[in-house]
Amino acid sequence: MSAFIVIGAQWGDEGKGKLVDAMANQCHAVVRFQGGANAGHTLIVDGKKTVLHLIPSGVLHAHVTCLISNGVTLDPFEMVSEIQGLKQNGYLKNDSQLMISDGALLVLPYHRELDKAREAQTTGTKIGTTGRGIGPSYEDRASRKALLFRDLFSPNLKDKLSQALKEKNILLAHYGQETMGLEEIYDQLLDVAQKLKAHRCENMSSLINGWIRSGKKVLFEGAQGVLLDNLHGTFPFVTSSSTGAAAACLGSGVSPRMIDGVYGITKAYCTRVGQGPFPTELHDDIGEELQKRGHEFGATTGRRRRCGWLDLVALRYAIDVGGIDQLILTKLDVLSHFDEIQVCTHYEVNGQRLQDFSLISEQVFNVKPIYKTFKGWQEDITGCLSFSELPKAAQTYIRYIEDQVGCRATVISVGPDREQTIYQGEIFHKLVIQSANILGEIAVN
Ligand code: GDP
Ligand code: IMO
Ligand code: MG
Repeated sequence: MSAFIVIGAQWGDEGKGKLVDAMANQCHAVVRFQGGANAGHTLIVDGKKTVLHLIPSGVLHAHVTCLISNGVTLDPFEMVSEIQGLKQNGYLKNDSQLMISDGALLVLPYHRELDKAREAQTTGTKIGTTGRGIGPSYEDRASRKALLFRDLFSPNLKDKLSQALKEKNILLAHYGQETMGLEEIYDQLLDVAQKLKAHRCENMSSLINGWIRSGKKVLFEGAQGVLLDNLHGTFPFVTSSSTGAAAACLGSGVSPRMIDGVYGITKAYCTRVGQGPFPTELHDDIGEELQKRGHEFGATTGRRRRCGWLDLVALRYAIDVGGIDQLILTKLDVLSHFDEIQVCTHYEVNGQRLQDFSLISEQVFNVKPIYKTFKGWQEDITGCLSFSELPKAAQTYIRYIEDQVGCRATVISVGPDREQTIYQGEIFHKLVIQSANILGEIAVN
């Protein structure tokens, strides 16, 4: 079997797009299994930038089939424009390279409007959503009112839309928004249905299961990050889907027993966009410096990302609840030229030591992070091709992280380009974890 999962181990934007693109070369297929166009995944190949919101990050490799499975919430209009953008740039020459599951959820225009209208309310908790209609569309899945991708091709489309609109228009009016007309949305949907029909897939889970059984390598690409997980993240400041490795199985209809490895991506520091707790956030010049050097602006909304030092309490938690067994460490190059680098080892609250991230909540998020300080390095590391080429101080930093969280950083990213990637040993080998926390006891098959 040969199925691997890549997920974010922080609050998103860890570099999933870059790494999935880099790793996809060796794969048969890349599958998106949750989230929607709230994701913004950046790929840089030979200096040329591509930002993907819905299409899996394997798409720049013509031999890689890209799948949108049932767990995703798909904005068909965004999908059409993403396909057009890729085609204009010479990618996606063959329609069969992109498949959309009949059971994927749809984001419709009223979902976006409701998302934005709720955020614009002056009362209540603002999440700082991406405004892409993600929450309202997943609500419809839970209440079984949703329209799915297959409905775009159904003779009952107009009826279903009409039913849905009745309720949505009441909600839109409640939020002081203009109501929406059935005919206009219906016509728009017929148009996108026509454009997307070549990508329709009626039996996606069987297809994926068959590929894995026959030894074809399948990579599952997460969106967001474990700390934004709807069940285990910093609720209510989370997204509306599950973001851990288990979600790959649920969203795609694949058994957990089929999975060979789970890569969790973490930046060498921390960022977050939107509201919510962020224990190591820096409001000083260093935070500013990380933001500038890391070009930390959201790939979907262009918002400035909040920045801070790496938080090992949060990372250990993400490894546990996300089901991660190996790390990918990104943006190490951004830390070059700092005299000192800090890492949060635990928190203090009311004079008490706190090491359990699950206690971070709406009430408890003003904890004091306690740091261990590391010597920085002054060398440019963006051209390093192996671990041994990295400055000693960078090596020490990485080894400390691995040791503290009990996971090996099998991949280290030292720049945004596909090629600026260091592999510690071969990737796609099953890791056998014999004992957490002691690096020496983690053996690679
Ligand atoms: P994703 O949502 O996890 O795919 O990440 P984003 O694409 O939203 O944000 C990551 C940003 O960091 C993008 O601009 C990438 O081009 C960039 N990036 C990824 N890895 C590295 C790295 O190792 N070094 C640097 N300097 N930039 C990186
Ligand atoms: P990628 O895949 C970073 C954040 C939003 C907000 C919260 C809820 O690029 O890592 P939503 O629109 O999902 O209802 O917003 O989640 N968020 C992300 N932050 N990266 C993302 O995706 C995100 N997707 C959602 O900023 O705080
Ligand atoms: Mg992103």
